[in-house]
Amino acid sequence: MNFYKLIAKGYNGLHEEEQKIKLDIIEENLDIKNNDLLLDVGCGTGISSRFDCEVVGIDPSAELLQQNNIIEYLSSKIRARAELMPFKDNTFDKVISVTSIHNFQGIGEGLKEMKRVGKRDFAFSILKKTKFFNEIEKEINKNFNVKKIIDSKQDWVFICSKFFK
Ligand SMILES: C[S@@+](CC[C@H](N)C(=O)[O-])C[C@H]1O[C@@H](n2cnc3c(N)ncnc32)[C@H](O)[C@@H]1O
Repeated sequence: MNFYKLIAKGYNGLHEEEQKIKLDIIEENLDIKNNDLLLDVGCGTGISSRFDCEVVGIDPSAELLQQNNIIEYLSSKIRARAELMPFKDNTFDKVISVTSIHNFQGIGEGLKEMKRVGKRDFAFSILKKTKFFNEIEKEINKNFNVKKIIDSKQDWVFICSKFFK
């Protein structure tokens, strides 16, 4: 967390271009509608929250949330961790998490929470080089029906649904 505290001010300059590629992939594959309610878990400065629908962003970093001026895209930003989210079951039409899951203290817990608060559709962008990649992939496969895995240079983007066929 200290790492993000240190780079909070320069985060967008460093990562905006790279994150946009992942967002385009998510947009193309998640069929996001204007009246959807979307949850962005680990939203940081809000780069990953730019969708044409109502968005709730959560992140534990006060410093990154402070830099989150993309307010017109966000209906609300909440300081919380993925592992324990203050939402009722089946609240969100879409749940996404972009390059954030490798930071969770509890990867399995965070994914289970996302499954709990999401209704059906999910997208997880996972950093290829993280040492937790295999653990994250295993937990995604355990909890979700993986429909597609898309190459996005530094990440693999998992397009998932809650229901196994
Ligand atoms: C690489 S940044 C990605 C931010 C944003 N999704 C983007 O695409 O620009 C990783 C984010 O994960 C957040 N994070 C760390 N631990 C977390 C947790 N337990 N639950 C949710 N987010 C967490 C960090 O604060 C940071 O904002």
